Amino acid sequence: MDPHSLVDTAAAGIPAPFWFIQFFKVLGFTLHMAPMNLWFAGIIVAMLLHWLGGEPARRCSRRLMRQMPFIVALGVNFGIVPLLFIQLAYFKFFYPATILMAWFWMAIVGLLIPAYYGVYYYAWGWKDDEALTPGKQAAGWLSAVLFIAISFTYANAMSLMTNVEGWPEVWQSHAVAGAALGTGLNLGDPTLWPRWLLMFGLALGTTAAWMVVDAAWFAARESEAYHAWVRRSAPKLAALSVIWAAAAGSWYVFGTWPGELRETMFGGPLILLTLATGAAGGAPLMLMLTLGQTSPGRTTATWIGLAQFGVLVINAISRQTVQNLEIGEFFDLAAQPTSVQWSPLVMFLVVFVVGVAVVAWMLAQVVKASASPTR
Ligand code: HEM
Repeated sequence: MDPHSLVDTAAAGIPAPFWFIQFFKVLGFTLHMAPMNLWFAGIIVAMLLHWLGGEPARRCSRRLMRQMPFIVALGVNFGIVPLLFIQLAYFKFFYPATILMAWFWMAIVGLLIPAYYGVYYYAWGWKDDEALTPGKQAAGWLSAVLFIAISFTYANAMSLMTNVEGWPEVWQSHAVAGAALGTGLNLGDPTLWPRWLLMFGLALGTTAAWMVVDAAWFAARESEAYHAWVRRSAPKLAALSVIWAAAAGSWYVFGTWPGELRETMFGGPLILLTLATGAAGGAPLMLMLTLGQTSPGRTTATWIGLAQFGVLVINAISRQTVQNLEIGEFFDLAAQPTSVQWSPLVMFLVVFVVGVAVVAWMLAQVVKASASPTR
């Protein structure tokens, strides 16, 4: 079967300029990725720190898990932004993929609800001098597993979207009389595992950067021993992130990208983007190792946080470029006719700006509510 025949090439049109859709898809995904990384890798890290660590490691675990209900709320809401824009311009690829794996895709809701309740149950009503009850421990581990399961479902959906060649196989092996059962996954696609693991590697780095930012901005009441522990431990986690992401990224790029895609991403001006994406992960680690040890204040922590955010931005841009190239083999998304629908567009912009401003205001309130810095 010619995979090109599977893509509907009729010109349906898009309701906003393609550059606008691209910009907000990438921005929205980056804003989703930052908190998402903290529950993807952060919860399992927190559970391990509590299980295996000493007193400061347990403090760190407790801090992370107490913040988690808010982090999940922010990340889930920010996830809606890229989802909106995928459905707007990439629907010819997004819907077939998520129909082929419909039960798993719909199951995200069923997995997310107990995962979210789990972090609430873990965090709420846990007094500082109390030990963690077995019920709370079980809830924490269960949430960690459920969030990891959801991440795997997302990696399947996003990789299946562009794996048009793989659609017939997924469809035929999960169909009755030609009707898709929706029980497929993209397991036959070699890009799936390294792509998923790459995101986990990035997530470890975001968790490390957040530990530093949290210590500087929100943990003024913690002891000096705690701050010293963060200064020692965050670079170790960031180093693990760099090694993990380098291994998964190399597997993804050199082991699974088709030759043509690799040539494009390593040729012309795109080589700069590819190399910068590969190298970026080292920046937060370098900052932690140099500035973080000598001047562990708020300014340094902010730079470390911004550097990690930059890592996520450049990864989001690269992912978008690769997605467009993969889809470009089948359909020219940018050439779709555009008929701008101003009222929803303006409405989106207003709500988006107000939403981001409210989040910034809430963060400012939390900083204010923490005790005034003693260092
Ligand atoms: C339920 C609310 C959520 C929404 C609306 C949402 C939305 C999205 C969207 C739209 C993307 C793709 C962005 C793009 O390619 O431009 C994405 C990617 C991703 N999301 Fe979420 N998300 C949600 C929850 C979660 C949860 C709970 C996890 C668990 C860790 C998660 C993990 C991921 C991962 C790992 C990716 C990258 C997948 C890949 O491309 O390989 N998301 N999310």
